[in-house]
Formats: sequence, structure tokens, C-alpha cells
Amino acid sequence: MTSLKTSVPVRNASLNAWVKEIAELCQPDDIHVCDGSESESAALCEAMVKSGMMKRLNPALRPNSFLACSDTSDVARVEDRTFICSETKDAAGPTNNWMAPAEMRKTLNPLFKGCMRGRTLYVIPFSMGPIGSPISQIGVELSDSPYVVVNMRIMTRMGAAALSALGDRPDFVRAIHTVGAPLAKLADGTTEKDSAWPCNKETKYIVHYPETREIWSYGSGYGGNALLGKKCFALRIASTMAEKDGWLAEHMLILGVESPAGKKSYVTAAFPSACGKTNFAMLIPPAALAKENGTGWKITTVGDDIAWIKPGADGRLYAINPEAGFFGVAPGTSTKTNPNAMASMEKNTIFTNVGLTPEGDIWWEEMTDTPPASLIDWTGQAWTPEIAKETGRKAAHPNARFTAPASQCPSVDSEMENPAGVPISAMIFGGRRPDTIPLVYQSASWEHGVYIAATTGSETTAAAVGQVGIVRRDPMAMLPFCGYNMADYFAHWLRVGKKAGAQAPKIFGVNWFRKNSNGKYAWPGFGENMRVLKWIIERVQDGPAASTDASTDVTESPIGRVPTYASMTWTGLDFSEAQFKEVTHLDAGAWKRELVSSAEFFAKFDGRAPKEMKSISDGILERFNRTAGAGSSTNANLEAQV
Ligand code: GTP
Ligand code: SPV
Ligand code: MN
Repeated sequence: MTSLKTSVPVRNASLNAWVKEIAELCQPDDIHVCDGSESESAALCEAMVKSGMMKRLNPALRPNSFLACSDTSDVARVEDRTFICSETKDAAGPTNNWMAPAEMRKTLNPLFKGCMRGRTLYVIPFSMGPIGSPISQIGVELSDSPYVVVNMRIMTRMGAAALSALGDRPDFVRAIHTVGAPLAKLADGTTEKDSAWPCNKETKYIVHYPETREIWSYGSGYGGNALLGKKCFALRIASTMAEKDGWLAEHMLILGVESPAGKKSYVTAAFPSACGKTNFAMLIPPAALAKENGTGWKITTVGDDIAWIKPGADGRLYAINPEAGFFGVAPGTSTKTNPNAMASMEKNTIFTNVGLTPEGDIWWEEMTDTPPASLIDWTGQAWTPEIAKETGRKAAHPNARFTAPASQCPSVDSEMENPAGVPISAMIFGGRRPDTIPLVYQSASWEHGVYIAATTGSETTAAAVGQVGIVRRDPMAMLPFCGYNMADYFAHWLRVGKKAGAQAPKIFGVNWFRKNSNGKYAWPGFGENMRVLKWIIERVQDGPAASTDASTDVTESPIGRVPTYASMTWTGLDFSEAQFKEVTHLDAGAWKRELVSSAEFFAKFDGRAPKEMKSISDGILERFNRTAGAGSSTNANLEAQV
């Protein structure tokens, strides 16, 4: 018999009916309605420490913080197990896995039947966006994972407040999650012992029904597979809502930039998973650009992963961060590369899949210059730097994460909770590209900007299960997250820009990951990205005249405006003009291959991609050919394909 434990009465009739229906299907032992309180979270963490799912970190070093280590089969998003089950295959488009809703329901029903036996069903009401904001949306996740509950409490506005904001409306997003590992009743009446990270090693499904705004997730307890407010709701479902209602749900960070003159602008940037959003959102300018006399550049953080962007009454685009916390990549994060992230996770943080030091603190690759002499790695084995050298075994999984409240971030923007959002002046797109794409370039128009965004390419990373380091097209960094046909998504982007007209943000492309002939990153990145951001802001604020530098020339290149060496600030960085050429040089051959590869990508959409994409591409090719003089035979060949 299922028993109900709740400190918050649920008066919403459709919510009650739905919880009853799902409980009947999943057959949990108990139902717990989450109030989102500190004491509830503390009790769940304590229970997980007892069950072996989490370890409490040393309170003197990392107060109120925990480490969870997952099953080795459950470490990242599973894109090949992610489905958009819209009524028609066309609505999902060629970039999404699709199955007819009725067929998917038939597939999932037997899996969900009894899937929560021996476990508690947690009812998790949450608000994406500040509670009560007109831009915010309410969802309810039903999950059998206490790890999900405590993560959702950090990542969203979760609990009683979200429930009361919902009131008696029936229009909440319904999200159902199970680890897919029911526990058997033993002969003596007790329940089978749970594993340290329950999941289903064989079967995983991350399923979205956009028309009915439902999410059904089976078999994984990790990240975006299980914290359903994030990628499933705030991107896949929200992108379909946004298309209908004229706004944008994007895989973007939002940051504030204050110029030395005291002028504040807001910028969004879309980089694919594990390509630098959290780092850029929390950027600390290098000393030379952050003068201590108060006249330097200053960056503030509104969001590090997702932006909901809506036209305001004045026609400008305003962005909110629907999340309340960071689910950030741990490896590579250090006080050198991202001090604000390190400060955000000093306390009240959940770490997943990192190493555990003998002192009871955490460690991951590149967190410090000198690794600890020994630790327990994320798989539970003894680890030393020597073992690492011999075997290549890592202390932390490459997709290890920290879950930390945004309020703990020293650079958090004062407007983060503003329900109206912040006005966006520039949008940046980029990926991991060892070659071809320059450090920064500016689009000539909104349409050209949409082309830059739609043709973004990036090497795959450990954020998704599969091969790492393969360049693929990842339009707007949304390839795994767009809940509908991407051809229609590009058209929607064009419409949003058209409506915004002269108020539309300026669009830029960037690449922090270009490599030199030795295979090393040719750009120092991290805080030094401020130099690029400064160049961008000078193009959108009061124009180059606002700059403190004498020369602000740009070069009109075939792909858009690129900076001259003189137009960027180099004080405090030893970066020669030759090095600058290395990161900005345009190789016509590589670019023509890029145009072909992008055309091949658009061809997948069988003529549904907006015609503007072809005309922008034609223009770039024509300009390259003009620059190079008469077209060679390879050019003619390329022209035929593009
Ligand atoms: P998701 O949370 O998966 O969406 O990732 P993200 O886009 O927020 O990426 P994040 O900022 O966490 O960075 C991912 C990895 O890229 C980390 O290991 C960083 O250290 C590294 N990285 C971030 N910015 C830079 C940069 O400017 N240069 C270089 N070389 N590496 C960077
Ligand atoms: C990403 O993969 O882009 C993430 C992590 O931000 S997850 O929440 O797992 O999607
Ligand atoms: Mn992300």
C-alpha cells in the first residue's frame, strides 16, 4: 500500500489526480510531497549518506556538501536514447529521434509499471524562473530519486512556493522520472538493499511529448536525463512553447558587462555542452582591464546555461535565467580558470563523480597544480598521481559536475531575480574548433547572424555519451535540445529578429579553441576572453568612440567584420601580432569546406530550411572568390555543391 507523506497539502485537483494515476502505474511504497525546505533536504541527504548513495564531505572544509558517485553506465546525457514524440515525424525533424506518441506510450507503459516498487515517489513542484514572474513556468516532477530532489532544490525554485504559485491551474508541465530499478520485497517483509547509484544499466529512455507538454524519463539518475526542469523542460519543451508564442528558449549563458564609463550591457552566448558557458558567464577580467580604481571592466552573471528570451514592450529582447543554480563541469575548473565557480561551491554543494581526498574534500583534474598524493577516484578505487601516469585513470569523470546555488556566486548579477529580465545587446555563438573559425567575427545583419548560429560546429565532448572530439554541426548549441524541426527553428529565429528590427541584438561568432601547429590552444582563453568581449561591446555600446584605445579599426572579411590587431587591447598579455594571425587567419579552402559541410547539413531538411541560409552562404563564397581573384576549378566544384 502506498502511503502519503506530506507537510504541504496539495489542493490542486489536476495535480492530485495525476499523482494518483502515476502512483497506480509506478507502485511506489510511499509518496512524499516536497516542500523545498532546508530541513527536508538535510533529512534526504542524511538518508542518502546512510544508504551509501552520498558521502558527507568534511564540514570544516566543505560545509553542508556531499559527494555522489554514479554507476559507470550512467555518467552523461544519452542523446541516442532521447526522443521527441510529436504527433508527426516532420514536427520533430531530421535531427531528433522520433517515435509516434501512441507507439512510445505502448513501449514505455510496461517499463513504468511497478518501476518504483520499494521506493518513495517524490512530488517535486518547481518554478523555472523567479516565482510569480509572468515569464516563469511551473512544472512538477514525479521522481523516485532523492538525489534528484536535492539537486532540483538547488537548480530550481522548488517546493511549497512553486506549488502555491501554481494554485489550482492544470497547466503545469508534467515530468515523470524513474531510475528504473524497483526493489524487491524479501521473504521477511523487508525491502531488498538498494545499490549506491540505482539506475537501469540496459534500458534508458528520455522522452518528450511536446503537444501534451509531458516528459517521461526512464533508467538514468544523471544530470539532464533526470533533473527534468533543465534540458527536458527549459529547452526541449520550452522551445516548442517559444515557437508558438514568439520567444526563444536557448542554451545560452547571460552576462552583464560594465564598461569603464559605467555603462551596463547584457550579452548572451551559446556554446555547446562543455564548451565554456559557465566559465564565460563568470569571467574575471585580467588585471590590466579590471583596474582597481573603479574604472575597469566588470562582469556579472545572470545565468550559465539556459536563457528564456522574450520581446519587451519596447521591442528589445529581454532574457531571464530560468534556473536557480549551476550544474557545472568540474574538471578544468580551478581558482586560476574560474575563481567565481570555485567560490560558488565552497558550501551547500553536491558534487557528482569527482575524487575524494583523505581529508574528506574533493579533487579533480587541474583543480590544483599539484594533485593530492592519494585519493579515492570517482569509481571508488584508490588513485595516486603515479597510478594516473601509468594507467591514464582519472580522479574525476570528464563529465563530473558540481551543483551549487547561483546565490553563492560572487559575480551574481543584481538583476538575476528581476522577473522582467535583462535587455540583450549582443548574442555570441561559438564552439570547439581547432581550425577555420577565427577568434571573433561580427555578422553583417541579423540574417547573417542566424546563419553563423545555425552553422555553428563543435567537437563533441564528454557531456553526452558517445565519441568525443568529432566536429559536428550544433546549430545555436541546440542540436540535442531543440524540441521541434530545426528548419522551423531557424525560420523562427529569422522572424524574431525581423520583429525586433533595429532593436535586435548584434550577433557575433567566437572560437576560444583554435590550435597552433603544435596542437596546443593558440588563445589563452578564460579571463583573457575579456579582450574579445571588450571588442564586441565596443561594437554595440556607443560605438568605437567609447573605447579608451586610439585605434578601433575592423577588417571587412568575406565572413564578416574581424578585428585588426590594433583594435584589441593587449596590455598585460604577451600576445604578438603573429600569434593574433594564428587565431584570426581565414583559410579560404577551409572556409569553402565549411560552406559545403553547412550546405550538407541544411540539405537534411529537404528544402524546409529558410532560403536566407543559402543566400548568405552564396554571398560568403562569392566574397572569398572575389578576394582570391578568378575562381579555380576547385572553387567551381565547390560552387556546384554549396
Ligand atoms: P555545460 O554545463 O555542459 O553546458 O558546459 P559549459 O558550456 O558551461 O562549459 P564550461 O564553462 O563548464 O567549460 C567546459 C570545459 O571547457 C572546462 O573544462 C573548462 O575548463 C574549458 N574551458 C572553458 N572556457 C575555456 C577557454 O576559454 N579556453 C579553454 N582552452 N578551455 C575552456
Ligand atoms: C549539458 O550537457 O549541456 C549540461 C549538463 O548542461 S546536463 O544538465 O546534463 O544536460
Ligand atoms: Mn549545458
